[in-house]
Formats: sequence, structure tokens, C-alpha cells
Amino acid sequence: MDESTAEEWARIAAQDDGLGALPERILEQLRLLDTDSSGFAVDRLTHSLQTAHRAETDGRDDAYLVCAVLHDIGDVLCPRNHADLAAAVLEPWVPEAYHWMVREHDVFQGYYFWHHLGGDRHAREALKGHPYYDVAEEFVRRYDMPSFDPGYRTPPLEHYEPLLRSFFVAKDAS
Ligand SMILES: [Fe+2]
Ligand SMILES: [Fe+2]
Repeated sequence: MDESTAEEWARIAAQDDGLGALPERILEQLRLLDTDSSGFAVDRLTHSLQTAHRAETDGRDDAYLVCAVLHDIGDVLCPRNHADLAAAVLEPWVPEAYHWMVREHDVFQGYYFWHHLGGDRHAREALKGHPYYDVAEEFVRRYDMPSFDPGYRTPPLEHYEPLLRSFFVAKDAS
């Protein structure tokens, strides 16, 4: 590195930095979620698609829907801090409020079940007063929390493929 030249860096900078392949990589990670139900009534991919579809039915914008589809994408590699991984993937592409919503969604979801596991369901209170608290609370209450329903007419991942492919390309071009 310390022997590199400006010409070499210009050549490297002109190469594809991988963003063109990003949508397909994201789709690959999402497909991995359908192997994991971990005792829940639906697998993680079905849960993610339900979450997004409920948000879509409510007329949420594209960035919100992308967040909804991806919010649990970290479950494969980071089961203990999955929200951090999803938030890191999304951060360059979505509004600050949506990034925070994804990063903190776990503690808001915890309100609905942590007490059954000996935890503190009110842990989200530590975030009270944050400007995006209500955004995250609403995301979980309306979309994330109810989306473990095996009777829900869940769209296939293909339903969100055009959005996922166009969203990241458009953001890269802007
Ligand atoms: Fe989650
Ligand atoms: Fe979730």
C-alpha cells in the first residue's frame, strides 16, 4: 500500500466496486432465511415478506419496504445482534429514521415477549425521547410483531425482486 501510486488508485477506483452485484447478494442472503424457523410458526423469510407486505398494504414508500424486507437479514450470521447487521447494510441507502428503526427494532419487539423469557419487556423505555422512537415503535407494532402468521397470504420473494434490484441501483446512481 505505501508504494501505491495515484495512477494505480485511479485504475482501482474506475473498477466495479461490487455495488452492481449487491442486489443479487442481498437476495441470496434473504433466500437463506427460509431455512430457519427456530421454533416459530413461519420461517424467517416468510416473516420478512409478511412484514413488508403489511407495510406495502399501508402505502409505505420504497425505502421503508426495503427496510421491512431486510430487517432480519442478519439472523443468518448474527443471531445475537441481527439488527446491527441489517442496519449496517441499509445505512447508506435509507433515511436516518428508517436506519434507526431497523437498528433498534429488536428492543421494540422485545416488548411483546421478553417478559416470557425472564427479560425486561420495558427495555425500550431507555430509548424514550429519541426523535425516531415512534417510528420504530410503529414499525414493530404494525408490521414486524404480527408477521408470524401461517395463515397470512404471504407474497413470494419474487414480488420484491424488482424493487430490490432497482432500489440499490438508483441509490448508487444518485
Ligand atoms: Fe428482528
Ligand atoms: Fe422481524
